[in-house]
Amino acid sequence: MSKRWFQAHQRDTWRRQARSKGYRARSAFKLKQIQEKFTLIREGDLVLDVGSHPGGWTQVSVEETGPNGFVLGIDLLASAPVEGAQMIIGDVTEESSQTEILELLQNGVKVNGKPLPPVNEGETRLFNTIVSDISPRLTGQYDRDQAISLELVAMVFDFTLPLLRPGGAFVTKIFQGTGIEGIVNAAKQRFSRVQRFSPEASRNSSSEVFLVCKNKLPLSKKGSRGTSVMQELDIHLENEGIIQQKGNEPEEEIKSGFRRIPKKE
Ligand SMILES: C[S@@+](CC[C@H](N)C(=O)[O-])C[C@H]1O[C@@H](n2cnc3c(N)ncnc32)[C@H](O)[C@@H]1O
Repeated sequence: MSKRWFQAHQRDTWRRQARSKGYRARSAFKLKQIQEKFTLIREGDLVLDVGSHPGGWTQVSVEETGPNGFVLGIDLLASAPVEGAQMIIGDVTEESSQTEILELLQNGVKVNGKPLPPVNEGETRLFNTIVSDISPRLTGQYDRDQAISLELVAMVFDFTLPLLRPGGAFVTKIFQGTGIEGIVNAAKQRFSRVQRFSPEASRNSSSEVFLVCKNKLPLSKKGSRGTSVMQELDIHLENEGIIQQKGNEPEEEIKSGFRRIPKKE
């Protein structure tokens, strides 16, 4: 039995199960298995689902939060509505999306069909949990895909952590390979518990792993204050000799799949 045949068979099994249980994607089982082990989402929670299309993780999040919770999905792509959730179309790495989400959180949360009262002046309503299954459009070149995905994950941390309340939980998909330690170390500066987990639904099928982070610290640890996850990833990659220090290399140079994403204007 070839490895490829086995992997395809496994994927089909999860896909069939998803269809029979009414989930839009087999990835729903990944979040279910993460939830079974770590209980990241509790009843009544406010949850942000990053990279939510077509909505499998959103469906699982709604099941877990129940009627007193609130789930907001964001994706570049439009999804069919998920009962009990709100969806927005947008790029999570854009500042405008962060502003839109924050505004919605303060004044647009509906629980059980009724809007929550707007927060008092000076207070901010934040999410209890952020779940991210985000993935860039894959090119099929593993080094390149893994590098782009790592940078995307760093951006998701930087753009969404300000939306997560202290004590909150965060999980993100990440592709194993060069530089992953840079992200793991940056996460450890911001959460008291960080663990890699490979749910059965993704085992054998790819090199993805989930980084499960619990208990967001009120302030990141001393060494990390004032730096972003992206900066810490860059420093890690420079220390490992994977990218060169800024200014020492032509911008275009690519090493081991890594490229610098130019800052958005
Ligand atoms: C593996 S799919 C998510 C599947 C989803 N968790 C589910 O269970 O249905 C990854 C998603 O990430 C989205 N994505 C990639 N880059 C994004 C970005 N910058 N902002 C928002 N979504 C993004 C893609 O459009 C894609 O739909």
